[in-house]
Amino acid sequence: MGTHESELLDVETLREDFPILQREFNGEQVVYLDNAATTQTPDPVVDTIADYYRNTNANVHRGIHQLSQEASIAYEEAHDRLAEFVGASGGREEIVFTKNTTESENLVAYAWGLAELGPGDEVVLTEMEHHASLVTWQQIAKKAGADVRYIPVTEDGRLDMHEARDVIGPDTAMVSVVHVSNTLGTVNPVAELADLAHDEDALIFVDGAQAVPNRPVDVEAIDADFYAFSGHKMAGPTGIGVLYGKQHLLEEMDPFLYGGEMIRKVTQEDAQWNDLPWKFEAGTPVIAQGIALAAAADYLDDIGLENVQRHEEALANYAMERFAEFDDIETYGPPAGEERGGLVAFNVESVHAHDLSSILNDHAVAIRAGDHCTQPLHDVLGITASARASFYVYNTRAEIDKLVAAIDDARQLFA
Ligand code: ALA
Repeated sequence: MGTHESELLDVETLREDFPILQREFNGEQVVYLDNAATTQTPDPVVDTIADYYRNTNANVHRGIHQLSQEASIAYEEAHDRLAEFVGASGGREEIVFTKNTTESENLVAYAWGLAELGPGDEVVLTEMEHHASLVTWQQIAKKAGADVRYIPVTEDGRLDMHEARDVIGPDTAMVSVVHVSNTLGTVNPVAELADLAHDEDALIFVDGAQAVPNRPVDVEAIDADFYAFSGHKMAGPTGIGVLYGKQHLLEEMDPFLYGGEMIRKVTQEDAQWNDLPWKFEAGTPVIAQGIALAAAADYLDDIGLENVQRHEEALANYAMERFAEFDDIETYGPPAGEERGGLVAFNVESVHAHDLSSILNDHAVAIRAGDHCTQPLHDVLGITASARASFYVYNTRAEIDKLVAAIDDARQLFA
């Protein structure tokens, strides 16, 4: 383990919380570099889930009995904890638990978009949007008769902010932008984009799936109207996402899903909606996942999000430096040494990304290969697929060296 890691994080001790990292395949210890797809779950979070099911499990907001009351309090407090984690001063009323970032996008696109968008309105996206944002708004705009415009990406993988000032205009109703690109690693100027949107009386939705796990995020400092992220990318469980929304906007919106939990009063003719955030959490909600996500927030705060960010930036830059040793490796996104999230997408000239991933798997190195749910961005880059290594708190420079050695093996096989 390199000394550099330990200057920022005590990686060796942290790794003890992740027994999965001790697994071996083909006689080699797993090198898990697919963290942008999902991060591993530390023991304190796993223990929280087990403890919930062993000791507290009951449905929330439905029982007068002790277990239901305990589960309800823990579940409600989990909303407060997540509000605190992203700087939402309105507390639980501004934090809706969903299934994932994609569902958070769909919630706003259906509940706000279908009601508010119409012919003549424009939804502004960026060429680096994940499909969760791009496809959702593209399809809702079609249903509403609105148009979609794109902020282009520059050659060095940034948003063209000059063009952004032109694309965001008087007809813009919604700007939906990714905070950190899951393919380029670019960290977008979301506060500046929020200002541009608000200057035109438009709203801004920020996809923070690759930001909240890896850096301090303050939704109010950004002035985001909506901000979405997922639990399983931030050391939490699968099956839970978060939607932050400004309280007055959530109050004005109709529900996205109907059923139990989200109602206050129902007659044969009509229904009235429950208070925020329950109005948007129809049916039995994600109780265990929500409580465990609060434990994940505690875990990350104990490490310190500034430390997580610096550790990941150091690893991404180290990977960029190592890749730069080879003429046949092309990387995407901002150049080495500049700000980026903890991931690097790349291609090796003679090896297709899928073949590369398969050979790396023979060395127990796990990366992602494909289009990373950003097909339009891959079109802009003029490629059909890329390989992607993405890092988290437990990764080391030594693991990146193993990645580079395994790439060399693939290169030899395809030479
Ligand atoms: N959106 C996730 C990724 O980029 C799944 O890998």
